[in-house]
Amino acid sequence: MADSVASKNPIGILISGRGSNMRAILDRIASGSLDARVVLVISNEAKAAGLAAAREFSVPTLVIDHRDSPTREEHDAKMAEALEDRGVRLICLAGYMRLLSPSFVERFAGRILNIHPSLLPAFPGKEAQRQAIEAGVKFSGCTVHYVDEHVDSGPIVLQEAVPVLDEDDAETLAARILEKEHELYCRAIALHFSGRLRVSGRRVLTHNTC
Ligand code: GRF
Repeated sequence: MADSVASKNPIGILISGRGSNMRAILDRIASGSLDARVVLVISNEAKAAGLAAAREFSVPTLVIDHRDSPTREEHDAKMAEALEDRGVRLICLAGYMRLLSPSFVERFAGRILNIHPSLLPAFPGKEAQRQAIEAGVKFSGCTVHYVDEHVDSGPIVLQEAVPVLDEDDAETLAARILEKEHELYCRAIALHFSGRLRVSGRRVLTHNTC
């Protein structure tokens, strides 16, 4: 097993709910297949199930409830301070259900990843799987992208497609996509830390080292 404590890749994860993507990241770190360490998990919701999962992995958690701050900027500034105190080099949004303020995005420019359950730019925002079913597309999937100040926008790092079957509803499609999300997010994190990614306009280019 890789010594995750010694990893030079400290990550902070923001969640609002279930936290299955967070758990996938923690599982892969624990099994030695992802060279990173999660130094802090922040939830804006005290009831988020993901908080208990993070504690199972002995990861420090913080609840920073957005309702306790008068503005989005103030809420995000509290998160930013906690993340900087822990020395994070990457912030992963994993089911974090709030838009980040421009000042937060600027402070961590190029160091925030998000995962979304559609092939962006198709179906941004809420209920992406339902949007895909209603649009009648034959393929959907998931996207990991760098975060900018807009919703589900920002340069795309990786995508994975899944078929949409005739018998699918939003739930069955979501389950098929989620399985891919867990894999894709970990691959994107590894790529980010590999130093092989270069952002050129809206594109993320991956160069080979050999
Ligand atoms: C995932 O479908 C992710 O793509 C979206 O929110 C959901 C979070 O699920 N951004 P989980 O909390 O990681 O289980």
